[in-house]
Amino acid sequence: MDIKEAIKERHSVRQYKDIPLSDTERERLGMLIEQCNDESCLRMQLICDDPECFDTFLAHYGKFSNAKNYIAMVGNKALPDLDERCGYYGQKVVLEAQMMGLNTCWVAGTYGKGKCKANLQADEKIVCVIAIGHGENSGNKHKSKPVEKLCSVPEADMPAWFKNGVKAAMMAPTALNQQKFMIALDGDEAVITTKGGPMTKIDLGIVKCNFEAASGHVCS
Ligand SMILES: Cc1cc2nc3c(=O)[nH]c(=O)nc-3n(C[C@H](O)[C@H](O)[C@H](O)COP(=O)(O)O)c2cc1C
Repeated sequence: MDIKEAIKERHSVRQYKDIPLSDTERERLGMLIEQCNDESCLRMQLICDDPECFDTFLAHYGKFSNAKNYIAMVGNKALPDLDERCGYYGQKVVLEAQMMGLNTCWVAGTYGKGKCKANLQADEKIVCVIAIGHGENSGNKHKSKPVEKLCSVPEADMPAWFKNGVKAAMMAPTALNQQKFMIALDGDEAVITTKGGPMTKIDLGIVKCNFEAASGHVCS
């Protein structure tokens, strides 16, 4: 599976098989997270075999089962773009995990915040977590807003690379599937902005990651 297929195949999965991550999976994810942490100055942490974080009323309400592994998205509270950075680098790991045959779900609300086992320094916070494991299913394709609500460029005027990016952005996970982003073209550069609101900056990072992976063009 290549990264474009991973973007297409990835859907939120909330029910997992009771199978622990293998040593190889832990090692590969660990290396990837380390690379992303080095590049981003975040302190993402893989936490395995911990049933407590998703053993809360909210998680059950959100239909999570057997979610025992997660990536805690941790970073310095003073970083002005902390949320967006978490979205961008977390999605890099999510897409790699998909290519490894694993399933994921971004979770900012329905987990036990006080139960997350991430190690935190005084100036850090947990932005959200990403559940990860062997899914009971592959999830379902989300309903997307029409392209004209998400992109200011008419489809007929889109360069091929840009169109690939827009399609991938439309497949990106966003909190409550709110898709509060807008993609524009400024000269030959894609510009993605958010309309604001809770969690939309995390969404923005995720959307940019998908766009870049599918288009091969960095966006701002
Ligand atoms: C930042 C963020 C936070 C999310 N928080 C939750 C959550 O608290 N609980 C949950 O069940 N799903 C959560 N989701 C998953 C979204 O509901 C899901 O991504 C969206 O409905 C689109 O579906 P898809 O991921 O299958 O494409 C979150 C997604 C994102 C990007």
